[in-house]
Amino acid sequence: MSRRKIIAGNWKMNMTPSEAVALVNELKPLVANDEVDVVFCVPAIDIIPAMKAAEGTNINIGAENMYYEEKGAYTGEISPAMLVDAGVKYVIIGHSERREYFAETDETVNKKVLKAFEHDITPIICCGESLTQREQGITIDWIRQQIKIAFLNVTAEQAKKAVIAYEPIWAIGTGKVATTEQAQEVCAAIRVCIGELYDEATATAIRIQYGGSVSGASAPELFAQPDIDGGLVGGASLKPDFGKIVNYNK
Ligand code: 13P
Repeated sequence: MSRRKIIAGNWKMNMTPSEAVALVNELKPLVANDEVDVVFCVPAIDIIPAMKAAEGTNINIGAENMYYEEKGAYTGEISPAMLVDAGVKYVIIGHSERREYFAETDETVNKKVLKAFEHDITPIICCGESLTQREQGITIDWIRQQIKIAFLNVTAEQAKKAVIAYEPIWAIGTGKVATTEQAQEVCAAIRVCIGELYDEATATAIRIQYGGSVSGASAPELFAQPDIDGGLVGGASLKPDFGKIVNYNK
């Protein structure tokens, strides 16, 4: 079975609402590729204007985070219903920057993943090791642990629709891309782990992205790997280079 590639931008804390509209308009013609799913995950305040600017194109607008409660006294948080009402279908969960700066844990990631599925939003679930962990040779063990907790109580039907983003922390924003072999090795291990947690059909269906300094130059080789189903792209998603990444197969 061939999985449809999913290429997502993570804008992080960049772009005001008016800049967001300008960027969507600039990238629109460059990211036209109907053979892949294209997602721009943008800051919450940019979601509605970006959605309007992307109307009638192949661009999906996603969120960068979401809270795991329905509503209530959680000042500053965004609820799943708010995202759904705005037309959002994808949300990044558990990015390493949220784990590092905003105290997210594997447990809160799991709660958010369950809540996203409850509202039919596809979670892009992030995992990844630090440089120390890689150097100590515990990368695969660490990633398996992150995946096992993230998928606690997630059904096979839900897991089939999930997206996992493998992002080695040492490769994020550093210009240091993992080698194709390193990226493929971990993505394959993630698929094995999903196969153990569920079954072969789920492991075959789930989409696994690589993230960490992906560029137009590195995308074709990375995305050609058997277990890499696209990318989660930071810096380059704010530039015309994102068009090259999305059109890696042209
Ligand atoms: P860079 O592409 O800037 O390395 O960021 C990767 C990332 O964190 C995407 O979520």
